[in-house]
Amino acid sequence: MFRDDLLKGQKILVTGGGTGLGKSMSEAFMRLGAHVIIWGRRGSVLDETAAEMREATGGTCDAVAVDIRNAGAIDEAMDAAFEGGALTGLVNNAAGNFISRTEDLSANAFNAIASIVAHGTFNTTVATGKRWIEGGHKGSILSIVTTWVWVGGPFTVPSAMSKAGVAAMTQSLAVEWGPKGIRANAIAPGPFPTKGAWDRLMPEPAMKKLGGANSLGDTGIPLRRLGEHRELTNLASFLMSDGCDYLTGAVIPLDGGQWLTSGGNFHALTNLDDGDWSAIRETIAASSAA
Ligand code: HXC
Repeated sequence: MFRDDLLKGQKILVTGGGTGLGKSMSEAFMRLGAHVIIWGRRGSVLDETAAEMREATGGTCDAVAVDIRNAGAIDEAMDAAFEGGALTGLVNNAAGNFISRTEDLSANAFNAIASIVAHGTFNTTVATGKRWIEGGHKGSILSIVTTWVWVGGPFTVPSAMSKAGVAAMTQSLAVEWGPKGIRANAIAPGPFPTKGAWDRLMPEPAMKKLGGANSLGDTGIPLRRLGEHRELTNLASFLMSDGCDYLTGAVIPLDGGQWLTSGGNFHALTNLDDGDWSAIRETIAASSAA
């Protein structure tokens, strides 16, 4: 879809780059010529991923164990990330989440999510932005949120609250840091299967009761399927590229139209077939004639 050298000369930090969507984006950026730095909590997972991606792409990647909940650790790791040249892009991808009734959550459970998604994203973004501002560098921030930022997230309230905060950060910084040449955008993916998310959001007991892996998945999606990682990595690559220099402050849904189905009275009609529509037409015509 893109020129092989689309991201050549770029240096992009991806938080949570060891697994899931973070890994997919990192690999895509490497294929397009970027040097990628992946951060995560588990050093061995990061090392394994980095080796695998180098082998698969022939690109370059540094893996650094950093817990983004710890602002002090970030500052030190960020100095290292800027050594030899400023970052050109930051992808706030690291997240934590699990389904639970909200009334069952403790303050600590809320913190377990918010400390990664809200605080960790803030910590990483400020550590990057202040270095860009000090050095007079331009840069691109991409944050991965969810469509819950618009419609709420029942049974995932700490995530919905934190991701909505990240969307607000995106719009705020687009204005505040725009004059300095720093762009801030977000992607709000719908269901893109990853082990981390699926284990915690669609655990087996819930799936059994609700009727299979797709019961929370594709039937309510206008495009009738789950997302493929390459579809997300394409949009992420575009947002990180120089050709996208005028786009900032956008929170872009990438969900096959799913979030819009909660609006309007007739969204369930997408499930009707030709026979249903013939019958409906006849019934309406009969009522008009009567
Ligand atoms: C109720 C729970 C709970 C559960 C934990 N807690 N699980 N409460 N229901 N299922 C409570 C604990 O009792 C404890 O509170 C507190 O939360 C912290 O628990 P820990 O086990 O110590 O948590 P921690 O080790 O910090 O791990 C939590 C986590 C972990 C960080 C969220 O699951 C993780 O590492 N996840 C990373 C990967 C991930 O989640 N990926 C999915 C992202 S998907 P008490 O009071 O007992 O101390 C996403 C959006 C997807 O973000 C959108 C799809 C459409």
